[in-house]
Amino acid sequence: MMHLPSLDRRKLLQLAAASASSLWLARSARSEQRFAGNPFGLGVASGSPTHDSIVLWTRLVPPDGSQSLGKEAVTVRWELAHDEQFARVARGGQAQALAELAHSVHVEVAGLEPDRWYFYRFMAGDAVSAIGRTRTFPAPDAAAQKLRLAYASCQRWDHGYFSAYRHMREENLDAVLFLGDYIYEYQSAANAVRVPTGGWVLTLDDYRQRYALHRSEPELQAMHAACPWLVTWDDHEVQNDYAGLVSGVNGPPVPDFASRRAAAYQAFYEHMPVRASALTKAVAGLASGAEVRLYSQQRFGRLANIVMLDDRQYRDAQVCNPSGRLGSASVHPAACPAWDDPARTLLGAAQEQWLDAVFARSGPGWTVLGQQTLFGRRVTKAAAGDLFWNDGWDGYGAARTRLTQSMQRHKLANPVLLGGDVHENWVGHVKADYTRPDSAALGVEFCGTSMTSRSGNPQKIVDGLAQNPHFVFGDSQKGYGVVEFTPARLTTTLRVVDDVTRRDMKISTLRSFVVEAGRPRIEAA
Ligand SMILES: [Fe+2]
Repeated sequence: MMHLPSLDRRKLLQLAAASASSLWLARSARSEQRFAGNPFGLGVASGSPTHDSIVLWTRLVPPDGSQSLGKEAVTVRWELAHDEQFARVARGGQAQALAELAHSVHVEVAGLEPDRWYFYRFMAGDAVSAIGRTRTFPAPDAAAQKLRLAYASCQRWDHGYFSAYRHMREENLDAVLFLGDYIYEYQSAANAVRVPTGGWVLTLDDYRQRYALHRSEPELQAMHAACPWLVTWDDHEVQNDYAGLVSGVNGPPVPDFASRRAAAYQAFYEHMPVRASALTKAVAGLASGAEVRLYSQQRFGRLANIVMLDDRQYRDAQVCNPSGRLGSASVHPAACPAWDDPARTLLGAAQEQWLDAVFARSGPGWTVLGQQTLFGRRVTKAAAGDLFWNDGWDGYGAARTRLTQSMQRHKLANPVLLGGDVHENWVGHVKADYTRPDSAALGVEFCGTSMTSRSGNPQKIVDGLAQNPHFVFGDSQKGYGVVEFTPARLTTTLRVVDDVTRRDMKISTLRSFVVEAGRPRIEAA
């Protein structure tokens, strides 16, 4: 049975804003509640950094492994310090972990110094959390010299262990960009490496349990504690192939998809270090939920502008699935009148306009676009005619052209697209016209492989590279990418693991690529 979120949107927003404020006056909170063990079993996280603020996250769960801490709020104290011993505390306060938000805590610490590393921890009763490490970004006008990001996506629990994060911790990163499919809503695969608790993820409680399961992984937890994350989502945080308020087709039918989406969005908020303000915009017609505003930009000095996009929440539905159903499929555009319809959108009109304005003011540094999926055109030549995947940018060609035209109109200096979704590494040039090999390269693209999720036939990568010359490299091994930006160049290193079915998986470098600033041409490092 569908379990609707118990709060209306207005109440949820009030609670989220209030619980994030250190000025909260204790309600009925059991401020000195004592726990029989450590309620911080899901760890700590930080995210959404600016030059002077950061979000600190935790969620309290029963130490005995039961599902709920009950209906009462819990007062959580927090400290942010310059040192790991907390001898020099920079900020501190208390927040309320509310039952309505699964006893999650989102503290927004403001007024911090730019370009600084900090340590933080939470306390409730006599329990103390693990210590997290986080940082602010350089001031927008500062001449930052180096930025190191990792990008990762697609971590299906039953396809493998998350131990690549143990290696990611050694990468000396300033931030992690997570680009979608943090959880999957599926029941376990038949040939599972390990079986997730619960079956199909449909209700608010189901989504909460699936996120909690992921955060029980020590290596994922430790990576969240190591540096700030910037996050977006793809489809599996709700349902495979969903588009805006249009349901996908996988799994048991749910009568009210808007309510399911609202439940999924709420659970995402409860488990991610995002700002309470992400919840503050309403979507007309969404009866039992809210827009969660994930698209954002954040400057890392003059060196880079990190732009996070959301290509799931506002998109039009996929078109021309040959089965006649909704959802993703390989499509022959020749038999699809809607394929090039300029009215169709992947980002939605508001986000498109916002992005155009971002490009207009982007300046000379790197513009890093963290988004969900493969950007470049990828045709599959078949006897019956050209085939394209309708769920990615290829299925929204007019929207892709509007984006590349916006880049050109504003002479965007150094665009770098990062992506996920396809469970394979794809490295290529962003083209003014993908159908003409001689057209200008506007930027570069590094679409990342999956952390664990399985991929298809490797021969398709070989064929895809041969048929789409704007791509220079493709590979299906699992792992993540690291990009180091300096004013002169970026260096991308594809890091892959040998076996996701083993916790003691080893990491190695698959390839490294260099792009000089002002010259969108990918070279081998
Ligand atoms: Fe995925």
